Amino acid sequence: MRKKIVAGNWKMNTTVAEGVELAKAVVAKSAEVPADVTLIVGTPFTHLCPVAEALKGSKVELSAENCADKEKGAYTGEVSAAMVASTGASWTILGHSERRQYYGETDEKLVEKTKLALANGLGVIFCVGENLDEREAGKHFDVVTDQTKAVLYNFTAEDMAKVVIAYEPVWAIGTGKTATAEQAEEIHACIRKVVADKFGAQVAEDMTILYGGSCKPSNAKEIFAQPDIDGGLIGGAALKAEDFIAIAMSY
Ligand code: PGA
Repeated sequence: MRKKIVAGNWKMNTTVAEGVELAKAVVAKSAEVPADVTLIVGTPFTHLCPVAEALKGSKVELSAENCADKEKGAYTGEVSAAMVASTGASWTILGHSERRQYYGETDEKLVEKTKLALANGLGVIFCVGENLDEREAGKHFDVVTDQTKAVLYNFTAEDMAKVVIAYEPVWAIGTGKTATAEQAEEIHACIRKVVADKFGAQVAEDMTILYGGSCKPSNAKEIFAQPDIDGGLIGGAALKAEDFIAIAMSY
């Protein structure tokens, strides 16, 4: 059965105290969300432990926004998948376009990160998406296909049970420009086919594929109504508990 997920990506926002408040506000409203919708909050590393505490006993799950491509050792400033798992987080976002664009995240590094995340029991929210030039050049299907294959084709069908894909067109992230429901749906269907080609029809059918990019309460319903869209990865609107929950209630 394909899971419906609404995941927040707080990015580099909120102090620890503000993050804990936000998490508590999400928990307080989470009962309103249908039981079949999984709620996840993705927070900076510094927030994971206290937010894990704030989420205890609730239905809200916790994610990191990244993890290291090395297991452990002399890698100053890095945070390993094992460390993330030890906070109580059960997910990590990997391959976000901001990581690819600003921090040199390559497909090779993402393979290592994904391996380590899965080995440490974390679910992976794996992000793909084309930039504006690529879309205007008509390359969006190829870009997303290549990004998906380059990383996920190194894994097994069993691994895919712990992977969620997030399609986030770079031109729609934080810009207020959302992909139309049709634009998103055709890419989601393409990603599902890429998954089916390697892992089979059932794995593809069960794969949760999220849309991200200026998703908000006013447009979530139309986006989530598409057959291949199984929820959202929410940036800006996840910083307000009310908006985040309103998006999750758009199913
Ligand atoms: P946005 O970000 O909702 O602020 O556009 C989405 C994301 O980057 O995950």
